[in-house]
Amino acid sequence: MRLKSKKVIVTGGASGIGRAICTVFAKEGASVVVADIDESASLETLYQIQSEGGQATTITTDVSSEESVCEMVSASASFLGGVDILVNDAAAFVFGRLEDVTLKDWETVFGVNVIGASSTVKHTLPYLKRSASPNIVNIASVSGFIAQPAFVPYNTSKGALLQLTRCLAMDLAEFKVRVNAVCPGAIYTPATEKHIAFENADRDEFLEKAGQGSFLNRVGQPEEVAYAALFLASDEASFITGTHLVVDGGATV
Ligand SMILES: NC(=O)c1ccc[n+]([C@@H]2O[C@H](COP(=O)([O-])OP(=O)(O)OC[C@H]3O[C@@H](n4cnc5c(N)ncnc54)[C@H](O)[C@@H]3O)[C@@H](O)[C@H]2O)c1
Repeated sequence: MRLKSKKVIVTGGASGIGRAICTVFAKEGASVVVADIDESASLETLYQIQSEGGQATTITTDVSSEESVCEMVSASASFLGGVDILVNDAAAFVFGRLEDVTLKDWETVFGVNVIGASSTVKHTLPYLKRSASPNIVNIASVSGFIAQPAFVPYNTSKGALLQLTRCLAMDLAEFKVRVNAVCPGAIYTPATEKHIAFENADRDEFLEKAGQGSFLNRVGQPEEVAYAALFLASDEASFITGTHLVVDGGATV
């Protein structure tokens, strides 16, 4: 019960890593708002939490719309009775080389991955300021500090999210709000399937190659990222802010 009675919003909680964060946090005693654009997948997360005896609700939101975020945060705070922890997990996956991507692609990826995270923090902040142990966990990526082929918009956005993490850690420290990031490497989720489709790759070969990049010779599972987020969100990390925790099986060492 490392998050007993904590009130948590998880954007992107309908799928993959976000879903694992919602279920792990709920098992650890948190009340969770699953905030995602995908209503039906959010309900699957909710049913999973409820079947394990956890406390949660879903609120449909598009983090790239400030109006939608504002409504979601207000409804979340009413449901939860405040907010202690925000996890920014929602992401748009826009791949490609510079010459392949459009201005719209850039707007989409920054709108969700950077501006979406930033406006979710902005609207959650009044509630975090009233919490006894407030913190934010941004789900960034190793893509935020390494180059990968034909990943330009996504990697640039994740680099910006890491820098947002550092800047907010400094600015929000006066309110005792800790801000950290988790940087997953290759984790098997529905987004991996989208990437396989983009590359038009053979699934087994793709996963084998992705796994070979790590010392542990495999891709990671969403729960392995969720437990890193759990540590940063818990009071065990009370003197940790402005940093990122890499969860990649050693791939970027
Ligand atoms: N899977 C990986 O290998 C990997 C590696 C590094 C980082 N990450 C990061 O982990 C996070 C989760 O990725 P995942 O692999 O679980 O992906 P996923 O596609 O399974 O989940 C992403 C979720 O974000 C939601 N979402 C997308 N746009 C949204 C919007 N505008 N508003 C609200 N919700 C929105 C989707 O509906 C989905 O539920 C992302 O931030 C991603 O960048 C993933």
